[in-house]
Amino acid sequence: MASHDTRPHGGSTTGAGAPAPSDRNSLSVGSNGPLLLHDVHFIEQMAHFNREKVPERQPHAKGAGAFGVFEATEDVSQYTKAALFQKGASTDLLIRFSTVAGEMGSPDTWRDVRGFSLKFYTDEGNYDLVGNNTPIFFVRDPMKFPHFIRSQKRLPDSGLRDNHMQWDFWTQNPESAHQVTYLMGERGLPRTWRNMNGYGSHTFMWVNEAGEKFWVKYHFHTDQGMEFFSNEEAANMAGADADYHRRDLFDAIERGDHPSWTVKVQVMPYEDAKTYRFNPFDLTKVWPHGDYPLIKVGKMTLNKNPENFFAQIEQAAFSPGNVVPGIGLSPDKMLLGRAFAYNDAQRNRIGTNFHQLPVNRPKVDVDTYMFDGQMNFLQSDARPVYAPNSQGRGWSDGQGNPEEIWSVDGDLVRSAYELHAEDDDFGQPGTMVREVWNDAQREAAVNQISGALLGGVGADVLERAFDYWKNVDSDFGKRIEEKVRAGSATEPVSGMSEA
Ligand code: HEM
Repeated sequence: MASHDTRPHGGSTTGAGAPAPSDRNSLSVGSNGPLLLHDVHFIEQMAHFNREKVPERQPHAKGAGAFGVFEATEDVSQYTKAALFQKGASTDLLIRFSTVAGEMGSPDTWRDVRGFSLKFYTDEGNYDLVGNNTPIFFVRDPMKFPHFIRSQKRLPDSGLRDNHMQWDFWTQNPESAHQVTYLMGERGLPRTWRNMNGYGSHTFMWVNEAGEKFWVKYHFHTDQGMEFFSNEEAANMAGADADYHRRDLFDAIERGDHPSWTVKVQVMPYEDAKTYRFNPFDLTKVWPHGDYPLIKVGKMTLNKNPENFFAQIEQAAFSPGNVVPGIGLSPDKMLLGRAFAYNDAQRNRIGTNFHQLPVNRPKVDVDTYMFDGQMNFLQSDARPVYAPNSQGRGWSDGQGNPEEIWSVDGDLVRSAYELHAEDDDFGQPGTMVREVWNDAQREAAVNQISGALLGGVGADVLERAFDYWKNVDSDFGKRIEEKVRAGSATEPVSGMSEA
């Protein structure tokens, strides 16, 4: 209990603050007798226990996090006026790392993309950057997102995870090839959260003091060095310590070993977007560093563990829609879809007034025209509840957080993006396989993919999968096909952790 403890005795209290009768024995008629409905303390304990969980996050359910600080060490004021990115600024932050597909208790070391969610408590309100440990994603239209996540989760009848379902989805959505290549490579099994990079993944807008606009991509490079698990190490760890990544981060911070990341951006001049060889808003593409080099911005350090996991991590609410002046969204359809999805998920998961919880509350004063609702805690006394008003309560009309926008015209359509000169689904993953990976990494990926395909993928999907990988790289694809055809005569690899 806190030092201002005013309890009249040394024991616990009821929720209403009176001395609790007993935390050990319920009230009964005689020592062996039946229990009584008017044992309010017992009934309250039971009822609250039944309600002490909130729904887990639909994707990214298993995770953990820490607090830290972002220090802007370089001058990037020519690109953004955002206060947190002005040289010398120091901003407190919360980070949450996660896996995507597994449920709350699932092993940290199953092969998966890892979430990398940040909340910067800036002087201009909260700025959230909700990224991953890969710079790209599986799909480029938000309509596909729920289908993608369900294909990663569990079968409707058995409740089992299913390789067939995953590969069925991926091979029918060839834009997934780049992210699946990342996932099947080393990045799918980071050794610890401290040993992986983070990315904003999407393209965002930056706006400087003069109102000039730029497109940016964020990169968080681990100062601990990238390290990975082998399949065998990851599978063993999943059994030995399902919470290994959570434990590793907590223990490191507890012993004063504070992990850090160097924060960099790629900046594209606003006008380049129209003619760049790749559609810069397509989330399945990277911008090669030769085209737009990395520019250092600052350093992020994690230095404080949560004091209460539920209040500070489980109830944390990140949203790509939370931006501050000098930072905007972009025409990336995925980003625009996400701008809605998160706050809605959190109203359901945590409650209408999730913004008011200490971990989510900005450090600046809030003066909002959102009122009341379940568990409302903050209120604005008797001040006007409507705007405009003539009683002196401020209201906004174009000032405050500017709508950072871009020019658009066109009819209402449901269509894919217009293609840029070098847009195709397989070019960039092909470059990764041929030019970024070495022989050993290619070999490991062939083994990994063929193992996964042998783990219960049906014949029709298998044929599509061979084409998918041959489209990425014909030699790589042939090696996968040969291995699967040879292996299908023998024992299949089973289980997601083997995949
Ligand atoms: C249209 C596409 C997407 C939709 C609709 C979507 C939706 C969601 C939802 C509803 C949650 C749970 C939020 C909560 O309960 O607090 C979530 C979590 C998350 N998503 Fe997405 N997502 C999308 C794409 C992405 C992409 C592209 C990334 C990364 C680049 C991403 C990264 C994350 C992360 C890291 C979390 C965990 C947040 C946390 O730590 O609390 N998502 N997503």
